[in-house]
Amino acid sequence: MVFAWISRGLVKPIRINSTETLNTRYGIYPHKSMIGQRFGSQIASNNGLGFIYLLHPTPELWTVSLPHRTQIVYSPDSSFITQKLNITPGSRVIEAGTGSGSFTHSLYRTVGDKGKLFTYEFHKVRQEQALAEFQDHGLDKLTLTHRDVCKNGFEVEGEQVNADAIFLDLPAPWLAIPNLDKVINPELKVAVCCFSPCIEQVEKTIHALNTNGWNSIELVEINHKRWESHKNMVKRVDDVVTRLRDIQQRKKEGLAKMRREKEERLRNEQNGGVDNKNSAATVTAGEKRTAAQALKENGNEDKKDSSAKRNGFNPFGKGQRINQGDPSYEWREVSKDEAELKSHTSFLTFAFKQPAFN
Ligand SMILES: C[S@@+](CC[C@H](N)C(=O)[O-])C[C@H]1O[C@@H](n2cnc3c(N)ncnc32)[C@H](O)[C@@H]1O
Repeated sequence: MVFAWISRGLVKPIRINSTETLNTRYGIYPHKSMIGQRFGSQIASNNGLGFIYLLHPTPELWTVSLPHRTQIVYSPDSSFITQKLNITPGSRVIEAGTGSGSFTHSLYRTVGDKGKLFTYEFHKVRQEQALAEFQDHGLDKLTLTHRDVCKNGFEVEGEQVNADAIFLDLPAPWLAIPNLDKVINPELKVAVCCFSPCIEQVEKTIHALNTNGWNSIELVEINHKRWESHKNMVKRVDDVVTRLRDIQQRKKEGLAKMRREKEERLRNEQNGGVDNKNSAATVTAGEKRTAAQALKENGNEDKKDSSAKRNGFNPFGKGQRINQGDPSYEWREVSKDEAELKSHTSFLTFAFKQPAFN
């Protein structure tokens, strides 16, 4: 298995098979061309115009490319939850429900060979699809149970669960919380996290945690923001003045052009419409034209003639595409954060249970 990095934001997991081909809008990549390449290699498309990178599978790449069967946990949340629940190699972890298996992959990697992951899903088809994916990806040491954990708890036949961390991504975690005592390690400080999109769910969860002996309850929301860097064009007062003069000039020319057209139309009418069909059509079109359209046309004509001049003083005029960093202009390096937060998915309620003193 390899992850084809096709473009920013588009990663595709593929199973290499020498008879198959990866088709993308950027080109065609026969799997044969990937065989024997090192992870991280860049390979060219058949026509040499596109390229992809071949990346080693990771839980993070799986999270951004998996087939969604449910809402999933994304890396900003999963990484925070993992450290807050103190999940490390050797941890014994409960996860319910399995859903699309996004967090399962990450948890499986963290607990490693010496730990153990128990994951539960009550939707039969989802449970079967998750099982097939886990087998395909070699996640063969976890225990996936088809179970309603709210009604029937977390015990697994033939296994001691003995969990030290629990993650509940369920619509009603408060119904599952009373079932945890039977499967947690009584000798360790145990941590739980409930992942709920609505504050009403959080209230019920906190109530259940309080009444079932969990403490140090904490509510957290992850607001993950990316910072991006750009070049902003430096615009001086002189440029603005020149630009305003240019607008005035074009307005004058546009109005004069409209007047000329109107006069021409009137002349044609007075001459008894002797003009040919084509010019009549031009006149009719002229009649409908708004001042703004005329100005625009005029401006476009200008542009054809004087782009060199424009380059000098009018870098922010309409209709011109200037590549960021174009050396003909002056630029300032700026950084800004994303306007929108895309990562909020849920509230995270954490709580802990200490071992008894006796
Ligand atoms: C939001 S999804 C979990 C997504 C998962 N954390 C991931 O990262 O892909 C919630 C899952 O819990 C399952 N579920 C809901 N109630 C359940 C219950 N009582 N017992 C077991 N699974 C349950 C649903 O079928 C669904 O697949």
